[in-house]
Amino acid sequence: MQQRQFKTLLVTGGCGFIGANFIRFVLMGSGFQGQIINVDKLTYAGNPENLSDIVNQYNNRYHFVHADICESSTLENLFQSFHIDAICHFAAESHVDRSIDRPDDFIRTNINGTFTLLELARKFQDQIVLFHHVSTDEVYGSLTTNGFFTEKTPYHPNSPYSASKAASDHLVNAYAHTYNLPITLSNCSNNYGPYQFPEKLIPLIILNALSDKPLPIYGNGKNVRDWLYVLDHCKAIWTIMNHGSCGETYLIGGHNELQNIHVVEKICDVLDDILPKQNNPRRSLIQFVKDRPGHDFRYAIDCSKLNNELNWYPSEDFETGIRKTIQWYMDHPQWVHHVQTGEYKRWIETHYQL
Ligand code: NAD
Ligand code: TYD
Repeated sequence: MQQRQFKTLLVTGGCGFIGANFIRFVLMGSGFQGQIINVDKLTYAGNPENLSDIVNQYNNRYHFVHADICESSTLENLFQSFHIDAICHFAAESHVDRSIDRPDDFIRTNINGTFTLLELARKFQDQIVLFHHVSTDEVYGSLTTNGFFTEKTPYHPNSPYSASKAASDHLVNAYAHTYNLPITLSNCSNNYGPYQFPEKLIPLIILNALSDKPLPIYGNGKNVRDWLYVLDHCKAIWTIMNHGSCGETYLIGGHNELQNIHVVEKICDVLDDILPKQNNPRRSLIQFVKDRPGHDFRYAIDCSKLNNELNWYPSEDFETGIRKTIQWYMDHPQWVHHVQTGEYKRWIETHYQL
């Protein structure tokens, strides 16, 4: 297998959930000896606390730059002064419900922001070894009860979020085709794990269940998602960046398909096991609420290309991953407190008046 060499990696959106886990993994667990420049606008979803220990531990190899990926001039200075030779592009607006209420920022950051980065990569093409674009399986639309997404599945995005990510994927592929920009692209299923902002299903349910609040389930709870532990996603991205074929797309998934109701019941049962509540199992907190408009029914990934070509397999299944995740939220009350106060308001609370 080929091994790409790069020394200075630009990570966008590194203060978000997956980006922070990725930076942590690359610096602490991958053997990478170069430096990382993390560009993040610090929207409501960007939390510098996710990397506070990294700042101290790696102060000569990790640099944080507070900037917007849509602002070309700031980024251009970085490409020049740090001689950036690889990009891993996470920065995005990422929550489907917000995209339904107010799509503006999704169009701006996910489409225009990606375009800005691609233009800079083209301008500095002589020094760029790889542009890796992090995307979602939601670009493929919704499955019925059968079948899996593959790299050949036609795009069919249904929400403003997935449409904006689909547009960004098309731009990335177009820059590879037209300008020979060296790219790889990954489309991953739903992630869960440490540092996830508690507006997404799993952290929201864990934190609500820990404080005896209602557990909202959209519609009948039978929608299916394919859950992947975030560290497995980060390792897959790193594998693709180092060994993936130029111009190729890889699907990443966990083969852990679950109905939402089963995810929520599982979290309740694990919490009852770790922290029992007398005569009041947490499942009693479940509340079925109004369905999300245009709610995709099912996502499921066939990741055999990644298995066969790059020998990537996930280390966690849902049983092991969810226990680790629940334990992490229980062990980090200060992080939770900070996220739940000030700027970090849970969108869901105002939306459903729970
Ligand atoms: P997140 O919402 O937790 O983090 C996004 C980060 O991007 C934040 O730190 C935010 O401050 C930053 N950001 C937003 N707009 C910016 C801008 N204009 N300029 C600079 N920084 C900006 O998202 P996440 O869940 O970590 O997702 C990261 C990427 O992975 C996204 O591209 C998303 O589409 C993709 N993805 C996510 C999942 C998932 O389950 N969370 C699954 C597959 C793919
Ligand atoms: P989410 O975490 O928002 O991810 P995505 O929409 O990108 O898949 O939601 C996961 C699933 O859980 C999705 O089917 C919507 C559902 N859901 C609920 O039932 N209740 C909730 O409070 C949230 C946030 C999501």
